[in-house]
Amino acid sequence: MVASVVSLASSFIAVTSSSSPSYSSSFLTKLRHAPSLRLCFAVSPLRVKKHMAHTIARATLGLTQISPAFEAPKLTLATKEIDVTEWKGDLLAVGVTEKDLAKDQNSKFENPILKKLDSCLGGVLAEVSTEEDFTGKSGQSTVVRLPGLGSKRVGLFGLGQSASSTEAFKGLGEAAAAAAKTAQASDIAIVLASSEGLSAKSCTASAIASGAVLGIYEDNRYKSESKKPALKSVDILGLGTGPELEKKLKYAQDVAAGIILGKELVNSPANVLTPGKLAEEASNIASLYSDVLSAKILNEEQCKDLKMGSYLAVAAASANPPHFIHLTYKPPGGPAKLKLALVGKGLTFDSGGYNIKTGPGCSIELMKFDMGGSAAVLGAAKAIGQIKPSGVEVHFIVAACENMISGTGMRPGDIVTASNGKTIEVNNTDAEGRLTLADALVYACNQDVDKIVDLATLTGACIVALGPSIAGVFTPSDDLAKEVFAASEISGEKFWRMPMEESYWESMKSGVADMVNTGGRQGGAISAALFLKQFVDEKVQWMHIDMAGPVWSDKKRAATGFAISTLVEWVLKNSS
Ligand code: BES
Ligand code: MN
Ligand code: ZN
Repeated sequence: MVASVVSLASSFIAVTSSSSPSYSSSFLTKLRHAPSLRLCFAVSPLRVKKHMAHTIARATLGLTQISPAFEAPKLTLATKEIDVTEWKGDLLAVGVTEKDLAKDQNSKFENPILKKLDSCLGGVLAEVSTEEDFTGKSGQSTVVRLPGLGSKRVGLFGLGQSASSTEAFKGLGEAAAAAAKTAQASDIAIVLASSEGLSAKSCTASAIASGAVLGIYEDNRYKSESKKPALKSVDILGLGTGPELEKKLKYAQDVAAGIILGKELVNSPANVLTPGKLAEEASNIASLYSDVLSAKILNEEQCKDLKMGSYLAVAAASANPPHFIHLTYKPPGGPAKLKLALVGKGLTFDSGGYNIKTGPGCSIELMKFDMGGSAAVLGAAKAIGQIKPSGVEVHFIVAACENMISGTGMRPGDIVTASNGKTIEVNNTDAEGRLTLADALVYACNQDVDKIVDLATLTGACIVALGPSIAGVFTPSDDLAKEVFAASEISGEKFWRMPMEESYWESMKSGVADMVNTGGRQGGAISAALFLKQFVDEKVQWMHIDMAGPVWSDKKRAATGFAISTLVEWVLKNSS
């Protein structure tokens, strides 16, 4: 969890430990044919240091304390095979489809479970459903409090026409948790009015469970006052019991813990979650699961040694130094057959740089979410550390930094050199994510991996194309696309494959360098993907996921935790 505090003391620690501010604007770009053109520093490092000390102290001094009372919700999940009329507790939540609500000539339910409940309640459920026009549409719900049952309250929750998707079952768990919150219920049960036709009951149960766990979660760390959730236990009725199901529920909870971590990272503001703090959080994950995870954090100097000129150019304006994060998962009991890498864009803030984000709709105030790709990667790392799949090695890679504006920052028109030697003319400093990913992808390929998935809040263009809740998928590999789409079927998250139209590379040509970093306005998400391709070894299967839309929920005004469950499913598909 993101749990420590930003204080005066930690700001000063940052001051004394920051010692390499002397990046000039050359960023490892070597002028091949002009050796006489050398840059020298007019300002002594000491003076720079003093100036930087001031900016660092100011940059992080928000006096924001993260609530120390915060704890991850502890919810007891259980599966039971008992009769709905016998279950005792605060709220019995019944998931109903539109079909389940069919009534006979006497206006009584035909569905056996609803019929049984309603006979204990004197027909009130049927009456309420008619009076309130409850038709079972997804999102509808109604709760009644009546004597007659072991449960204090009964609620009907709409699942849509005929529920079969993970999304619908997650929604049921979430809606039941929300109703529990309103009623201040501490024990609830969830049951489906009809579960006969379900192909995989255990998957249904785990989808409901993860919905409930995430449904009661609220990120109150930055509120001065908050109430703890009352909900303590969720019983899932009628979907079986036994060790296989228990394993599934444990898995759902492990993934949910990863999702909660991911949400907290994204919700954290940029004055708290600096690149250094993100690296610290990554190290914490590794030490929590030190039997399988190890952490390597590279500082600015070490990245310079690796010639990561593209990444360091983005970091150059910030008073908060960059941190390159590399976690490695090694499976317990034997060598891995497959090696995977998950690479996440980790911009803790994106001001746009000199091409500053201005004007309505540019969302500069939300740009703390520009590390959503890295949150997905680290959330997945936490879940994988807990689940410990066999036969697969996973590298979690983030080139974390901040895109700011200052005299040490890159200018529009600068030429930078990435760690594979390719040169980039930066025609727009706001296309910074791809510059950081370039070096991160080269680094990932050097880990000798078989497959790479990168995730990034990369382009506004992808939001224009697919809207706020669908991520764009770009890959030359049909096999990898199949794997990830199969994983997304289970997770219930939405992805759409986009074309990697090679002819659009034309717009990325530079007159003086190997490429520019932005093409025109048209097809912006595609040209961004083509740019990334320049930094990936052809022997490696690679996929880029643009999650600029789904990283954030405008409705909830908070992070979604997007992609984590899909990534974990995908890693498990590659385990043996
Ligand atoms: N982080 C942004 C992308 C973004 C924009 C995400 C809005 C979510 C909401 C990225 O760094 C960016 O600024 N991209 C530019 C690229 C352009 C300059 C080619 C964009 O999309 O405008
Ligand atoms: Mn940008
Ligand atoms: Zn960005």
